[in-house]
Amino acid sequence: MGTRPLLNRRLAGMGTTIFAEMSALATATGSINLGQGFPDTDGPASVARAAADAVLAGRGNQYPPGPGIPELRQAVAEHQQRFRGIAYDPDTEVLVTAGATEAIAAALLALLEPGDEVIALEPFYDSYAACIAMAGAVRVPLTLRAPDFRPDLDRLRSLVTPRTRLLLLNSPHNPTGLVLSPAELAAIAAIAVEHDLLVVTDEVYEHLVFSGAHHPIAALPGMRERTVSISSAGKTFSFTGWKVGWVTASAPLVAAVRTAKQYLTYVSAGPFQYAVADALRLPDDYFDDFRADLLRKRDLLADGLSAAGFRVFRPEGTYFITTDITPLGEKDGIEFCRALPARCGVVAIPNAVFYDDTEAGRPLVRFTFCKQIEVLEEAVTRLGRL
Ligand SMILES: Cc1ncc(COP(=O)(O)O)c(C=O)c1O
Repeated sequence: MGTRPLLNRRLAGMGTTIFAEMSALATATGSINLGQGFPDTDGPASVARAAADAVLAGRGNQYPPGPGIPELRQAVAEHQQRFRGIAYDPDTEVLVTAGATEAIAAALLALLEPGDEVIALEPFYDSYAACIAMAGAVRVPLTLRAPDFRPDLDRLRSLVTPRTRLLLLNSPHNPTGLVLSPAELAAIAAIAVEHDLLVVTDEVYEHLVFSGAHHPIAALPGMRERTVSISSAGKTFSFTGWKVGWVTASAPLVAAVRTAKQYLTYVSAGPFQYAVADALRLPDDYFDDFRADLLRKRDLLADGLSAAGFRVFRPEGTYFITTDITPLGEKDGIEFCRALPARCGVVAIPNAVFYDDTEAGRPLVRFTFCKQIEVLEEAVTRLGRL
């Protein structure tokens, strides 16, 4: 095969994701996996039943329509109106995707030219760097720093150049738990409008905000026509394996993203789309109980990690807690996470893998709390032995 590397140079260095490595380590060592963010119980039985019924009734078993089934596009539009106060036309302004992951990929592949600069909040969810690279664009990190991880808006202004095309946001933010405030969103929106930038915003944790509220940047003046909002059913309904996500944006933006999306998967998850349409229409109690349950779990794990000697940054949103391991006499999160399963039977994720500026992330380690109370209690007991 000659000497040329098989993997193209845009993806060089992006080997196995850390989640695969750590989940395999959890299985091999029988550890409690607080690494990858997937719940250990499934979502509502009524929603699971709707998916099973759809399969058995032959709804969605053959290629569904490219933009998504009309029932789900209608339900997404209703959800955006009900929770975010934004009206979208289900026929032209909603696109169903294979999870938020495909929505991110399709948006970046559709909207970027090689050489365009993308300013993204660092630490980044791992698919952002890969998708920016696949588009041939350049990522420009706006680093969020401990202890509060608030974005430095002056720094953001200074990062904008004539080559900047797009701001890639994520709020509530994985892994820090930051929730962008109305003032921060207004400042970011003003920068986008002033420099005529597009905004892609990943809001998959929109229903997991523990203090304050989730505010959509698309609702701010001048933003609707330049914002691609992305969300998915995985986190909100605890069905991460179904991979049903969606984009809401103006018709021209949806048309652009759809053009890329149709050559990635074309369509996916036919029967699950019917079930997610039902899920999005669940009463408010569902969303309130889901959040209250995770708040209890957040506090259980945060208190346990503090007692075990970690410095804990209690998240405002998401189901992740970022910690600093320095008080434990540790310096390097990657080494710490590789050793943790053998030391105490718990798996976590080193935040350094989400940073270009690896020094900023070196002592930080992320734990998820989307697990059953007994599992979290056992994890806390084990971590207490450190
Ligand atoms: C910030 C963020 N975006 C997107 C995703 C992936 O979403 P989906 O499973 O819908 O593709 C995740 C999953 O962990 C995430 O944390």
